[in-house]
Amino acid sequence: MQYVMKGGNPLVGDVVIGGAKNAALGILAAAVMADGPVIIENLPDVKDINALIGAIAAIGARIERLDRHRVKIDPSTINTVKVTGDAVKKIRGSYYLIGSLVGRFGKAEVELPGGCNIGSRPIDQHLKGFKALGINTEVARGMVIAQSNRITGGHIYFDMVSVGATINIMLAATLADGITTIENAAKEPHVVDVANMLNSMGANIKGAGTDVIRVKGVKALHGTTYSIIPDQIEAGTFMMAAAVTKGDIMVKNVIPKHLEAITSKLLEMGCQVSEFDDAVRVVGRPKLTHTHVKTLPYPGFPTDMQPQITVALALAGGTSIVTESIFENRFKYVDELTKMGASIKVEGNVAIIDGVESFSGADVTAPDLRAGAALVLAGLSADEHTVVDDIEYILRGYERFDEKLRGLGAVISMVDNERDIMKFKLEVI
Ligand code: UD1
Repeated sequence: MQYVMKGGNPLVGDVVIGGAKNAALGILAAAVMADGPVIIENLPDVKDINALIGAIAAIGARIERLDRHRVKIDPSTINTVKVTGDAVKKIRGSYYLIGSLVGRFGKAEVELPGGCNIGSRPIDQHLKGFKALGINTEVARGMVIAQSNRITGGHIYFDMVSVGATINIMLAATLADGITTIENAAKEPHVVDVANMLNSMGANIKGAGTDVIRVKGVKALHGTTYSIIPDQIEAGTFMMAAAVTKGDIMVKNVIPKHLEAITSKLLEMGCQVSEFDDAVRVVGRPKLTHTHVKTLPYPGFPTDMQPQITVALALAGGTSIVTESIFENRFKYVDELTKMGASIKVEGNVAIIDGVESFSGADVTAPDLRAGAALVLAGLSADEHTVVDDIEYILRGYERFDEKLRGLGAVISMVDNERDIMKFKLEVI
């Protein structure tokens, strides 16, 4: 599938942000630990989430879709701890079912996680954390098998800040005997959201959002109704869209605090950013100013916004440097951006960007989720037609992306064959 677009319009108007995909993955996994039904609200309707819901249904949980963004999960009918299948292999978040199933049932067998190919993405820290809780793990035939007769609280010091490992250990520790201390924990908003959701089920988790999380094991978790926080990265992508297209976008249903790293970079680039209670407005400038960016764990600049800000900096006056410090293979999209006229040199984990006046439309391919979205932003700023191929990646994490962009005045269509691309190009000159 492709997006075909004709850029050049400043994007102007309001856009409403959905629930956080990466929080939703942890929260869905947490739901399988409850004794009763769990209702999850503000769930994004995106491929990765639907794949995880499918995996939870496949192990026997009763799933009821209450509406597009609400689901009811009754985990009392789960009849296996073996999670397999093509959908599971493709998503990263399936690894949370290791923590939640072993935490609840003492055993889990989960197909090794997939996700975007942005680096080696090992899970050694997850396994190290499980070991500290008395959980044995082995990796065999593409499956992670975790088992424990008695999960006990433990002390874990992570070698690096990992969102996935922090959430996974939090899940496994929730029903353990005793207290677990997680040091060098990830502080991302979605870590806090998963902790809040678990606490609403009766867990006893303190310190989420700081470097040290303490989990006091409880005997059981009850059902709950929980609404997921807004997606920091979807919001950031639309904020960057205003900068890239010289537009004026009111990004609604956000938590401005979660966007501060992005806001501060946009201000450095000369954009105007106004914060409201649950919205931010970004007004682009005819000419952006160069700046330097280094991706870091929260509250630093998110790696999931690195491709989008690179697109903006590729249009800024002067030389900018973007350093990727989380994943080693996250500049693959630069070759595609070069086809559109960007001037970027990548050396290891550093991109040196010489700003250009404008991009020209081109046929490009999305190498992963966030880079795919970034290429769409580039296409929307280019005067001619752009086709972004392999948008299945984008659909994994952005709900109705093209529709939301059209609401802001973008001329963009989702197509799946050459004929429709030609038709678009003939109709939209
Ligand atoms: C999550 C997000 C992803 C985001 C990333 C960083 C989900 C489903 N995905 O990914 O969108 O880009 O956080 O904010 O929530 N590492 C290890 N060993 C481990 C775990 C991690 O070496 O056991 C390394 C990774 O290779 C990476 C760094 O630690 O270099 C951070 O990874 P982590 O925070 O775990 O990312 P994910 O949870 O995979």
